[in-house]
Amino acid sequence: MAFAHAEIVVVQNGEGVDASLLDALQRLHTVRILSLSDNPAALCGAPFAFLFHVNLADPGVVRQLRDNYLSTSDLVPRIFVLDDGDRASIVRAYAAGAHEVLVCPAQQREIEQVLAPLINGAVERLWDDLTDIQKSALKISLKLFEDTFVAIRRGEPPSMKAFSETSASVIAAVSHHDFPTLLHALRAHHSYTFKHSMFVTGTLVTFANLLGFNTEDVKTVATAGLVHDIGKVNTPEAILSKPQRLDPREWEVMMRHPSDGAAILERSGDWSKDIIDAALHHHERIDGGGYPDKLAGEAVSDLTRMVSIADAFSALIDKRAYKPAMSGEEAFARMLSSSGQFDQKLLEAFAPVALSIKG
Ligand SMILES: [Fe+2]
Ligand SMILES: [Fe+2]
Repeated sequence: MAFAHAEIVVVQNGEGVDASLLDALQRLHTVRILSLSDNPAALCGAPFAFLFHVNLADPGVVRQLRDNYLSTSDLVPRIFVLDDGDRASIVRAYAAGAHEVLVCPAQQREIEQVLAPLINGAVERLWDDLTDIQKSALKISLKLFEDTFVAIRRGEPPSMKAFSETSASVIAAVSHHDFPTLLHALRAHHSYTFKHSMFVTGTLVTFANLLGFNTEDVKTVATAGLVHDIGKVNTPEAILSKPQRLDPREWEVMMRHPSDGAAILERSGDWSKDIIDAALHHHERIDGGGYPDKLAGEAVSDLTRMVSIADAFSALIDKRAYKPAMSGEEAFARMLSSSGQFDQKLLEAFAPVALSIKG
């Protein structure tokens, strides 16, 4: 399966790749470094992108680049890394076949801005290798997230009907196919709230199936997963994708998303109380140490307890710019040791779901 090998390939000659650029790339992706003289045909599957950090002022380098790399599929994005952002270097890069250029030294945020649309396109094209049910679940969900975020910013509430229909397609993809494959197909996607919400929803559907929920309840759980972080529509991108840990002021902004999410759902008038409660309280802890309302024990509903477990698990198994991904086993061990955060009995029942995610 193509996803198993999808990575970013950095091609260099001469002095090697800028260390801070490499560090920034490795925070988000699996990176392979090749030399200009290597044969890319030896790669297993198409990479998500090629990053060329080579001396384009040397005609011999340009020839080697053309002969060895530019004959590969035009669908793989080509980003040229330049040491100088002068006009002549930029013109040279596009003439040599660049789809985008990145000038060093670049901040994580600039790298993200250049890479995100190109990589998302490459990731979404790889979805064509999945089964029809999986492919349509991913495409329908992505479109729903994109449309909903635009609509909310225009002041329109999210459509309960659209989320409920989309949850049916995610349930079909997760219940009848393998969830780890779906999860893997999303891993490199840069639209963080979409990706995370899909991780949470897939985890919840797997968990609900394990617990023997009926069709209607699986649908409620899945829909709650899709919208649990809808309030992040108001969280600035600079905070959502900050490559370091958040400072106290940024945390304060981040911690508004449950209340914002509940308010957005309440405005529409057709969302169930249970789903609004899960959006509002998925960061509460059983010991009362969570937010925003410091609920404790029985005050945290059953659905919210499930969402809170799936939410924490999904965050731990995901790679972020400030932390590596954990395997399902490592994530579960971390959650077990976090005493007082989760419903302990429910967490123990979650073990088979967690252990099915290998990393
Ligand atoms: Fe959240
Ligand atoms: Fe979340």
